[in-house]
Amino acid sequence: MASLITTEISQAAKVIAVGNLVAIPTETVYGLAADANKKSAIAQVYQAKGRPSDHPLIVHVASSQDAKSWYTQLPNWAWQLADKYWPGPLTIVGPKADFVLDEVTGGQDTVAVRVPSHPVAHKLLVELKDQGVNGLVAPSANKFGHVSPTSAKHVETDLAEYLSAHGGLILDGGSSDVGLESTIVLATGDQPVILRPGAITESDIESATGLKVLASKLNAPRVSGSLDSHYAPKTKVVLVTAAELKPQSDAGFIGLAKDALESGLVNLLAAQTPEEYATHLYEALRKGDELGLSIIYAVIPTGLGIDQAIADRLTRAAH
Ligand code: TXA
Ligand code: MG
Repeated sequence: MASLITTEISQAAKVIAVGNLVAIPTETVYGLAADANKKSAIAQVYQAKGRPSDHPLIVHVASSQDAKSWYTQLPNWAWQLADKYWPGPLTIVGPKADFVLDEVTGGQDTVAVRVPSHPVAHKLLVELKDQGVNGLVAPSANKFGHVSPTSAKHVETDLAEYLSAHGGLILDGGSSDVGLESTIVLATGDQPVILRPGAITESDIESATGLKVLASKLNAPRVSGSLDSHYAPKTKVVLVTAAELKPQSDAGFIGLAKDALESGLVNLLAAQTPEEYATHLYEALRKGDELGLSIIYAVIPTGLGIDQAIADRLTRAAH
């Protein structure tokens, strides 16, 4: 059997060009990529993930210039944001161009687009553009509701069976740096609205645009990551304060090193910084399952910035 995991970008491009799926590395998490203009390929994405078909997908493109064609227009403030943070972990939702398939938008009149900064994703997008593929849909490459993957190995755990049976591939580009999904910003009005928190924070958005971020609609049902329960491992996750921690040999700890017990818990993650916490969070949740722990105790960071995205994901994982 041919290997499912490859580092050959051209091989991955071929698989996508014929309408099959490739799990691709991005700086946030691995995405399950398909040609964004091919209905049958998009149908495979929903099937592989077991994702409800009314949940819209993010389109990934090679540059801001390429992003432009997917919208009818965006407000100036959104382009200021794009200028500062693309390529990078930012998704902008705006009014969709006519050609954009309902299968991408879930039938909505808006489309979500991002320009990933991961060099492998970027090279793949450029190579595909030369072959006439001008965008890739790519939801996180996990089964619906499960923890997002930050390595090729994680993708293999969730999707090897489907990808092997359907001519798919996993493109290995190493571990994802950011570790949490992109910040999603709604750009249909005069002010930014955050639909999903991420590494680009509220204050980043306010300083790039000079505008106040409107009270967020984090519970809007059209963002699947905003369902109450999501990003969840099999092992039960319980949120605690550092003061509540007690030694327990079959329990795991996730948090900052300063909050960890000296001993008596399995340290799945004891991060030095919130950024390191984000990078390794999903890996730590998956490790809890692998070790067969009975429970995971997580101490969420309480600062602003990326702390809020970590708190958001862990609250859903614990639901
Ligand atoms: O970092 C990321 O964004 C990763 C990597 C692979 O790029 N992708 C990702 O995709 O997180 P996914 O499908 O797991 O999450 C996409 C989110 C969903 O919650 C979806 O509801 C939302 O984007 N979304 C897509 N189109 C939308 C739209 N038109 N309006 C509002 N939300 C939208
Ligand atoms: Mg996801």
